[in-house]
Amino acid sequence: MEAAIAAGRLLALKDAAAVAREAVRIWAAGARRPGGFRVAISGGKTPEGFFRMLASLQDLPWPTTEIFWVDERHVPPDHAASNYHLARAALLDHVPIPKSNIHPMPTGSSDPKSDAQDYEVLLRRKFLGQSWPSFDLVLLGLGDDGHTASLFPSDPTLQESLRWVLATRSPQGISDRLTLTIPALNQASKKVFLVCGSGKAGILKAVLDPQASAPLPARLITGALFLADREAAPWASQA
Ligand code: 6PG
Repeated sequence: MEAAIAAGRLLALKDAAAVAREAVRIWAAGARRPGGFRVAISGGKTPEGFFRMLASLQDLPWPTTEIFWVDERHVPPDHAASNYHLARAALLDHVPIPKSNIHPMPTGSSDPKSDAQDYEVLLRRKFLGQSWPSFDLVLLGLGDDGHTASLFPSDPTLQESLRWVLATRSPQGISDRLTLTIPALNQASKKVFLVCGSGKAGILKAVLDPQASAPLPARLITGALFLADREAAPWASQA
């Protein structure tokens, strides 16, 4: 673990609020850079505190910030399990971001594969002429089975090398999902995991352990920074 800390891959912080503050700092620094800011966000429980803290920064350049999703549950946009619903309630409805800058993953088709293709068409239009989307920042979570986005252990979608967006199925909770693929995520300039809570301590240690051989999806994300609270990284000295 010391290697991960030394390599600057793990920042162990006091608590979930400190993790949220650091993520807000990273977001704000990226958003304030000239040239626009394109960020892909995850869902789940962890990011809510971060979203609410970010919503207090009304003076960020929201008109030049574009929001995309890392993944989505294939449910209606007003469903309680929707990642879009979470982000709207905790952040997007509270900041002056143009609606045209918000790009939720479509979930209206009866076929998730069709929605995944539609989102890929949108991304290829937004990142026109690029072989992969080049997000400025991607915010990721870590599942207790080592999944990230909606890329689950032993799933063939982990080997995808051409598509930007795929439909996948989760072994837990809402089964039908849409997700960015590993290569699409890895092209981002900055990849940041938010990992909080004692329930993540074991899996975080496994993901960061260079000797570990378990094929965990989160290990496929290259050059990522892990922001973890004391409970998720009890073995690391807090910053
Ligand atoms: C999702 C997320 C998923 C999440 C992890 C961690 O749609 O659920 O994108 O990848 O980040 O499952 O979820 P928690 O933050 O709820 O632990």
